[in-house]
Amino acid sequence: MELICPICGLRLDRIERGYRCEKNHSFDMARQGYVNLLPVQQKRSLHPGDTREQVLGRRAFLESGCYAPISETLNQTAAQLGASGPILDVGCGEGYYSARLAAFLNTELTGLDISKEAVRCAAARYKGPQWLCGTAAHLPVADGSAGVVTSLFALTMADEFKRVLRPDGLFFQVLAAEDHLLGLKSIIYPELKYKEKDTVPEVPGFQLVKSVPIRFTFTVEGEQVQNLLGMTPHVFRITREGAARLAATEKLTDTASCVLNVYQPHWENCHA
Ligand SMILES: C[S@@+](CC[C@H](N)C(=O)[O-])C[C@H]1O[C@@H](n2cnc3c(N)ncnc32)[C@H](O)[C@@H]1O
Ligand SMILES: [Zn+2]
Repeated sequence: MELICPICGLRLDRIERGYRCEKNHSFDMARQGYVNLLPVQQKRSLHPGDTREQVLGRRAFLESGCYAPISETLNQTAAQLGASGPILDVGCGEGYYSARLAAFLNTELTGLDISKEAVRCAAARYKGPQWLCGTAAHLPVADGSAGVVTSLFALTMADEFKRVLRPDGLFFQVLAAEDHLLGLKSIIYPELKYKEKDTVPEVPGFQLVKSVPIRFTFTVEGEQVQNLLGMTPHVFRITREGAARLAATEKLTDTASCVLNVYQPHWENCHA
């Protein structure tokens, strides 16, 4: 993947143990194998993004294979659509889905997350891909250099995704549906409120190619119940009573329900 300097936007060249631009802004590769391309002025807090605890909980949960159907649907759909790399995974977390996708498509991968803990964890486990700490709001990636952009349970920055994609590139988005993890929700909330959720949103500058619903049941036990909670936004909303009820839950069978949307860049009024 061709990288650009997060400070001045010029091309970044590979140097020993890191990168440097023509204006001499340089970025070292951390001992753990990732590069920090998040300048302080692009940080909104001292430690943005997921915490170490969240990252380790997600790693333990995903490695158990409970969400393998999501990874398999992503891989199969990408292959069917003839997706080709390099892949840029935005909000990559600890790299579970994109490392599998890159291996499946046998292509290059760059994973980017605003959480240093996430990319540190990804780099420790998956040695081939390039792992970057950076923000989706200002991707340190050259225009038109990605064949695939993925945003899996993470944020969508339409303008930036379009800028970095090749004209024939594809954007893969996974979103949780309204009935995702109803079992967990029914334990932690006294009543379930149904909110309409647009799971196939319009993405400015893109057109929808395909939308694939993903629905399956799985069971978690012991610590994995807490790990599951930690992967959801409910971890920030849970009440003390809800947390106590979940702590007393030894085993939980639940249904994951999400949607894989695939989009392609769309140019209006573009006459050759
Ligand atoms: C719910 S997690 C999903 C992680 C991974 N894609 C997965 O599905 O396992 C969302 C991720 O987005 C990251 N994130 C949040 N804001 C971000 C930003 N502005 N730029 C890049 N990553 C961001 C968080 O640190 C976190 O790792
Ligand atoms: Zn620079």
